[in-house]
Amino acid sequence: MKTRGQETILKLPKFCLVTLIGVTGSGKTTFARKHFHPLEILTSDSFRAVVSNDENSMEASQDAFEVLHLILQKRLSRNLLTVIDATSIQSFARRKILDIAGEIGAPTVAIILNVPEKTCIERTLQRTDRPFGAKVVREHFEFLRQTLTSIYTEGFDLVYILEGVEIISNTRLDFVDEPIEHQGDVRRELRGDIKEIDTRY
Ligand code: UTP
Ligand code: MG
Repeated sequence: MKTRGQETILKLPKFCLVTLIGVTGSGKTTFARKHFHPLEILTSDSFRAVVSNDENSMEASQDAFEVLHLILQKRLSRNLLTVIDATSIQSFARRKILDIAGEIGAPTVAIILNVPEKTCIERTLQRTDRPFGAKVVREHFEFLRQTLTSIYTEGFDLVYILEGVEIISNTRLDFVDEPIEHQGDVRRELRGDIKEIDTRY
């Protein structure tokens, strides 16, 4: 990850699994639509809708993720870059998709959107497409805090943490053919507010 002027540039392999991680309202779907082709994005809400007619039906989550995981496996088997647009704030959810990518040998990238709780609550309360209140956002933040401590040891090849709305909106993705230059297994902090770890290359 580099910062050039106001821009943050994330290097990603042209073929990889990208897992967006963030609480409800952090902007995962917005980010995915901005940076990826619609066919590359697997959104959990869409699969909830497909299996239950209701994208907010949490009861449908198990079926929705079964379908999502199957399509993920099929796409990665064809060497197609695939983005998971789900909260992925619980480690078991990340474990499952890492296992699928691992079986295929696909590089794995986590991008965490770390937006202030206040902003996520404000956004969530304004949404007409979600029945969630502030309580759900706060619950998600508990999981996110755990995620921020465990993410570096879970097996992702690359972990990018984007801190705050300004950095997120000024981020550009740079898709590269070559493996990313090895940075060592250490956590590096750039500019104080951007964190990166590169655990494989
Ligand atoms: P998203 O719908 O992108 O959030 O944005 P999300 O992380 O995917 O949320 P879940 O997990 O599916 O529930 C949430 C709201 O915030 C606005 C969007 O327009 C949407 O109404 N938003 C997002 C902004 O206002 N600015 C942003 O930079 C991103
Ligand atoms: Mg979303």
